[in-house]
Amino acid sequence: MSTPPPRGLRDGNSIPPMGFGTWPLTGDAAAVAVETALRTGYRLIDTAARYDNEEAVGRGLRASGIPRAELFVTTKLAGADHGYDATLRAFDASARRLGLETVDLYLIHWPLPARNLYVDSWRAFLRLKEEGRVRSVGVSNFEPEHIRRLVDETGVAPVVNQVELHPDFAQQTLREDAASRGIVVEAWSPLGRGGELLKRDVLTRLAKKHGRSPAQIVLRWHVELGNVAIPKSQNPQRMKENLDVFDFQLDADDVAALATLDRGHRLGGDPNVYVEL
Ligand code: A2P
Repeated sequence: MSTPPPRGLRDGNSIPPMGFGTWPLTGDAAAVAVETALRTGYRLIDTAARYDNEEAVGRGLRASGIPRAELFVTTKLAGADHGYDATLRAFDASARRLGLETVDLYLIHWPLPARNLYVDSWRAFLRLKEEGRVRSVGVSNFEPEHIRRLVDETGVAPVVNQVELHPDFAQQTLREDAASRGIVVEAWSPLGRGGELLKRDVLTRLAKKHGRSPAQIVLRWHVELGNVAIPKSQNPQRMKENLDVFDFQLDADDVAALATLDRGHRLGGDPNVYVEL
């Protein structure tokens, strides 16, 4: 399997283009999945305070025996911890649970505009970056207007925005806004949670054409759009399959066919109204 080259981030760091998503795994299942993913070749591991698995993810990282410098670990700030001081405390707690001194990428998990505290959290993120506790700072589930506000009020845009993105929900406007600001878009649920999407005729046809699985066609589509993707799988064979998309290409007709799948259909929450429970 060819190793995917990392993508550059605007802050000078880089990020693997394919990562391993850990939601909704918890406990030993999460630890084993992380260890297996790392042995398979993944280097980006994505977790969040809200997933309630940071401690287990930390165990998986250590069990893999892979040197810290080769790992890229992302975690996220929970909504209950928005605000400047609360964010600094929450970061310490996440790092402690993960067993890490530094985190490669820290994301504000949801903007929660009704709480109106995400700019305060962003200022705390900039401090964590300055202190070297966090190598890169970004956001998750931010709409262009939320990012505009961060830039207007702090002068600093995130380097990554992690959002729901798959062929059913291709997020073209958000991707164009991100590209104009030099923000890398990271796709959560890149396979549309592996359900009906993977059974669509277009995907069956393209899978046959390229001698790949429908999931590989979708993940290759992400790579070609310039997205970082973080598919989740508990199955070692599918973990391997999902990483193995760097030795073939889609042509313009394939990309056009995939564009017809976009129904603007979200599986998860709308960032403007979503409230973490
Ligand atoms: P499993 O863990 O049994 O492999 P997403 O990352 O878009 O949220 O999708 C995750 C879901 O897709 C999980 O249910 C996962 O199940 C399934 N999945 C992951 N990889 C593949 C694949 N290569 N083919 C089919 N389903 C997959």
